Amino acid sequence: MNFISILPSLLAADIGALAEGCRRAEAAGADAIHIDVMDAHFVPNLSFSPATVAMAKRAAPNLPRNVHLMMDNPHLYLRHFIESGADTVQIHVEPDYDIRAALAEIRGRGARCGLVFNPETPASAVFPYLGEVDEILCMTVRPGRGGQPFLPHVLPAIRAVRDAAGPGLSIMVDGGINLDTAAQCAAAGANAFVAGTFLYAMDDMAAGVRALREGVRRSTS
Ligand code: DX5
Ligand code: ZN
Repeated sequence: MNFISILPSLLAADIGALAEGCRRAEAAGADAIHIDVMDAHFVPNLSFSPATVAMAKRAAPNLPRNVHLMMDNPHLYLRHFIESGADTVQIHVEPDYDIRAALAEIRGRGARCGLVFNPETPASAVFPYLGEVDEILCMTVRPGRGGQPFLPHVLPAIRAVRDAAGPGLSIMVDGGINLDTAAQCAAAGANAFVAGTFLYAMDDMAAGVRALREGVRRSTS
């Protein structure tokens, strides 16, 4: 199995103290910070921008930045996000743009690339791209906001991606992740876990990161 990764989602941090939110994640032993970008078209909400990514890099330089673009036209903004410090850029499979070219551009600019699919999208939509991505992100809620309940019907889709991709590809889950749902996703084949509400609500985030890591390890051993 892939290295287990735990990623706090900055969307759940105190918006008045986002730099502190990045430093908390770094001090807690997280593997990266997940930064959600919403365009008010692909999802009915607005959130972060390249400036947020640059802020995260200044606040916690050693914590890699995993940038999730919930956008209809992500290909127009790849350069801005990567120049601002994105280490991984994740783009959705649902909108109408040249996905293959966008994935290649992300890699060409020196970042890792991820492809994301929504709970209502069949897992097979990402299969044609498995050889061209560093990561698949399975949405376990409908994208657009934090704090929603986990959708268990995505579990067979996670399993389908793992079976199609083999053991080497990183498979991430995002939405409604806590100790219980992380273990379910790990049993289905996920190795990377975004958690917003669960981790930022804890007084001791390091204990939360440790508990997620240990729970995931137990459920796959
Ligand atoms: C949802 C975002 C998620 C969100 C997860 O649109 O993509 O990253 O922040 O938050 P929780 O863990 O609270 O469901
Ligand atoms: Zn996200």
